[in-house]
Amino acid sequence: MSTVVVLEPACGIAPQASAVSTPIRIALLGLGQIGSAVAELSHRGQTVRVTGALVRTPGRARGSHLPRDIAVTANADALFADDPDVVVEALGGIEPARTLVRDALLRGIPVVTANKSLIARHGGELLDLAAQRGVPLLYEASVLAGVPFLGTFARRPHAAAITAITGIVNGTTNYILSSMRTERVDGATALAEAQRRGFAEPDPRNDVGGIDAAEKLAVLAGHFGFGRVLPSSIETTGITEIVGLDLEHAGEFGGTVKAIVHAHRIAGSVRAFAGPAFVPSTNRLSHIDGVENAVILCGTYGDLCFSGPGAGPAATAATILDDVIAAARGEGWRSTDARHPTIPDVPVEAATTGWFVRITGSSLPEGEEIADLLGSHGVWLRRASAPDTRQGIESRYFLSYPCAKPRIDRALASLSAATDGSTALALRTLES
Ligand code: HSE
Repeated sequence: MSTVVVLEPACGIAPQASAVSTPIRIALLGLGQIGSAVAELSHRGQTVRVTGALVRTPGRARGSHLPRDIAVTANADALFADDPDVVVEALGGIEPARTLVRDALLRGIPVVTANKSLIARHGGELLDLAAQRGVPLLYEASVLAGVPFLGTFARRPHAAAITAITGIVNGTTNYILSSMRTERVDGATALAEAQRRGFAEPDPRNDVGGIDAAEKLAVLAGHFGFGRVLPSSIETTGITEIVGLDLEHAGEFGGTVKAIVHAHRIAGSVRAFAGPAFVPSTNRLSHIDGVENAVILCGTYGDLCFSGPGAGPAATAATILDDVIAAARGEGWRSTDARHPTIPDVPVEAATTGWFVRITGSSLPEGEEIADLLGSHGVWLRRASAPDTRQGIESRYFLSYPCAKPRIDRALASLSAATDGSTALALRTLES
């Protein structure tokens, strides 16, 4: 293990050691966008150094920006046998990341990862293993990549009595929706730009389909003691059906549409969703734009809001390196105490919220008739827009009072049947 270094405050640059010491030796799993950014940033200072990297094809030409003295290999055993101080997992996905992280922990090597898929699905078992072995497993960059808040709360459990989590946790979709609203670009153009800037997942359907956000919500639920929530048990909706007209009418109703995650505890279960939602301008999440993300934690002692860069190789790499330094010092977040058992599974149910509804059709009835029909199913409207025919077909927008999801689904199915096949989109709404 390397000598512990004393860090000086640094802004925008890699941490510098104030005393001459051996750099922390990192074995890097993966040299994609995040892995490369970790390698580059680590070589700007003296505190940490990537000594070896696991890649699929060692002989392949790599960018000139990568440090030359990194030994690339396809052999994980050789990499671990070199006795690194910390393993940084930057492969993404489940396998081989899960097996390699297990392997490193079994060898007693601390691990740092930004892999939300891995932590969301296997965080419990990996954290248990890390605790048994007495080695840190840190994952600060897995949610709100550029905002250090998970570690703070892990160290402050009494201040972290969290009962509800609401946030914008995907940089790509927040960038897309912000660009659609402010620059009126279409979703595909905005996504291409988000990919160019390195925000998007290797398969961007995980971003626009809401999967990345649901995984991050599952990480947060586990981290803040709600229990083990499977991402697949969270109601998950993508942003692919959102069009510019929706954002305009949300604006008329005094808000906007954001890709939101929400979970709150209620009587031994969790109510949760991940998907686009109407956010009134009185809610601070409505003002989080571009790649910026935010999480509001509702706790016993009041609400806490964390915001900052949610994605991007540079921000992610900086957070990972901070975790590396903590991990090399042996600073874990989970106690090795046997009184901290495996995170228990918790059932997930649908939340009850208000709804932002778009109804489109060629022969829609009058607004009052629509309100009566929805009301007959127990869906009560509080705002209605004037008919909008700019797309060559009529669209109407409504805001409803809170009701359960099956109720709004039944009401809209009945409306569709009564209006010769009108189509509807229903988004959840947040409160002020
Ligand atoms: N694709 C992710 C996002 C990367 O856009 O938020 C950071 O987890």
